[in-house]
Amino acid sequence: TYVVTDNCIKCKYTDCVEVCPVDCFYEGENMLVIHPDECIDCGVCEPECPADAIKPDTEQGLESWLTVNAEYAAKWPNITSKRDALPDAKEWDGKPNKFAEFFS
Ligand code: SF4
Ligand code: F3S
Repeated sequence: TYVVTDNCIKCKYTDCVEVCPVDCFYEGENMLVIHPDECIDCGVCEPECPADAIKPDTEQGLESWLTVNAEYAAKWPNITSKRDALPDAKEWDGKPNKFAEFFS
């Protein structure tokens, strides 16, 4: 499965949802997540993210992000069409330690 990781936080460009053939993105206030049981591993979303936040879970060190994606995909609503990015997306793109902002 693919997972959304920290650089989505406070950016939320939503280009990813436009290309997903199975509509498996779910939307929180500050970021999106991918439902790991619904993702068919097609990989088309990965290059579409302007923030480079989408990774295959086969990459090292993404276990905690897989847990976050699974947990919140079950709680948040499905999103299937692109919206405007968050207002300060450009400013937040690439900032370190964004996970601290996740629940704010
Ligand atoms: Fe959707 Fe494919 Fe991305 Fe999985 S890898 S979230 S199926 S676009
Ligand atoms: Fe987030 Fe990138 Fe999608 S910033 S909303 S994963 S396009």
